[in-house]
Amino acid sequence: MKKIKKAVIPAAGLGTRFLPATKAMPKEMLPILDKPTIQYIVEEAIESGIEDIIIVTGKGKRAIEDHFDRAIELENNLIEKQKLNLLEKVQRSSNVEIHYIRQKEPRGLGHAVWCARNFIGNEPFAVLLGDDIVKAETPCLLQLINQYEQTLSSVIGVQTVPVEHTHRYGIIAPINNEGRRYKVDRFVEKPEPGTEPSQLAIMGRYVFTPEIFKLLESQKAGSGGEIQLTDAIQSLNAIQRVFAYDFEGTRYDVGEKLGYIQTTIEFALQHSELKNDLVEFLKLLLEKNAVKAENFQ
Ligand code: G1P
Repeated sequence: MKKIKKAVIPAAGLGTRFLPATKAMPKEMLPILDKPTIQYIVEEAIESGIEDIIIVTGKGKRAIEDHFDRAIELENNLIEKQKLNLLEKVQRSSNVEIHYIRQKEPRGLGHAVWCARNFIGNEPFAVLLGDDIVKAETPCLLQLINQYEQTLSSVIGVQTVPVEHTHRYGIIAPINNEGRRYKVDRFVEKPEPGTEPSQLAIMGRYVFTPEIFKLLESQKAGSGGEIQLTDAIQSLNAIQRVFAYDFEGTRYDVGEKLGYIQTTIEFALQHSELKNDLVEFLKLLLEKNAVKAENFQ
């Protein structure tokens, strides 16, 4: 059995939900506390045993490359000032083997993954999307890799979402399940409200056999006029079994504004140096707003 050693992180999206902040800065560099969102994703990949990462970038994404590069001047400065804690943090982002490839035109997620085909070659691999950060005892991707090792099949991470959110995701139509692992009849990208086959949504963590590349190559544009990864997964499932796995862990949606704010607050409340002051601030804020609301009545 070939071990999963390589991962693709698509990061070519335009980040329109965060404009104008993302006009000159990649959305993947938006920080949660002091770490860019993409670093949480890279750390999950490393903790899952990934050794080589390829980030698919596009226009205006240079800051991602700089972030994962060495910053010798900054490092020397921190050494001089004996700020070793910060030095460790800065070096942590440059201690991995990361490769880059550019998606020359934004043709969708399926196309972005296809761009990594030469780097991956003929072996199974992982894909991680940056819109969700997952906190879990066993890293989310590692849970999928464990399933791959048991089944030797592609495995797609899913979690249940409220029915009114299903139109924002790829949704599976399950046949049956063994514990958390589902056999799937259909994978549907962004179903129209009312037509969703379940509430189990694809959550941006995937393990694929290399056969997915052939299917992506001939994949026609789907939802939103883009080449959709979900459509290629549906085709793959017709020729070899693709499982869905309802992974354990808390998912933070950092790909949209409210989720981003909620994640920032929750992570700050888990941070020993920020927690107490933030609790006090939130209490005061709630009291102030309650008084204001009373005055309006
Ligand atoms: C993409 C995928 C979708 C998946 C989602 C998870 O959609 O196409 O299947 O459910 O990521 O975040 P996007 O959010 O890029 O529109």
